[in-house]
Amino acid sequence: MTISGKARLAGVIGWPVAHSLSPRLHGYWLSTLSVDGMYVPMAVQPGDLAAVLRTLPKMGFRGVNLTVPHKEAALGAVDEVGATARRLGAANTIVVDDDGRLHASNTDGFGFIENLRQSAPGLDLRAAPAVVIGAGGAARAIVAALSDAGCPDIRLVNRTRDRAEALAGDLGGPIEIVDWPARADCLCDAGLLVNTTSLGMIGQPPLDLSLDKLDPGTLVTDIVYAPLETGLLVAARARGNPVVDGLGMLLHQARPGFEAWFGVRPEVTDELRHHVLAGLGRRSP
Ligand code: ATR
Repeated sequence: MTISGKARLAGVIGWPVAHSLSPRLHGYWLSTLSVDGMYVPMAVQPGDLAAVLRTLPKMGFRGVNLTVPHKEAALGAVDEVGATARRLGAANTIVVDDDGRLHASNTDGFGFIENLRQSAPGLDLRAAPAVVIGAGGAARAIVAALSDAGCPDIRLVNRTRDRAEALAGDLGGPIEIVDWPARADCLCDAGLLVNTTSLGMIGQPPLDLSLDKLDPGTLVTDIVYAPLETGLLVAARARGNPVVDGLGMLLHQARPGFEAWFGVRPEVTDELRHHVLAGLGRRSP
């Protein structure tokens, strides 16, 4: 696609960054929406993050996404941190305003909820407990989003109980901590089951979880999207449970940044899913 001298600039900063699907995702929107803009991958070492962020306004960048390992460190290198990013201690999106000030936000929880809204429109998060497996960074974003969406009871299951307690202490909300050996028993009356760990990802062990006590109507979702149908989703589908894969969370979390930088509201479509999945197939591990 041809760009002009007025092209709007954005990108993703990571270390490494070559695995990121964001350039493919934003590139698709730029092209299909005919935006005069560019979205580029930037491999930045951790020690250089603050200097690079400060340089963005001087180079005319409208903002960036942040991926591993920069999401936490970025908070100390910007001018303003949004409420959700502050609460989670991590940011994935930076917007440069007209005065060159850097604003950090976290859209992971937004992406999670929007994916469920689009893929499972009948799900009422206020109606039943949710079971969340894991207590890492992704779990923080998801637990906060579920709590904000009015989920009455969030059962947080983690191999290391201390980590679940730390998450609950930091975020507050209707969190009930369940010990790892009791994970299969707490599924019985849940409306939603979410895996936020990397278990089930290509190259990782599977998630060891019996679904015998899961109600047939419980929606099962996974943040892992490689493979798209994880062992958890295959097992849930085989029992007749509705399932939502993790790719949509990645796609939806990107929407607010794109709109802020490029001035057009993008949509998540089947065609976009196929385009990003094709990139996943070509990606080296
Ligand atoms: P992220 O920030 O991407 O969520 P993370 O902080 O490394 O990643 O968190 C990984 C999650 O996967 C944690 O909840 C971790 O459990 P612990 O807190 O006990 O480490 C969980 N996890 C990773 N490997 C696991 C395994 N083999 N069995 C059970 N849980 C595992």
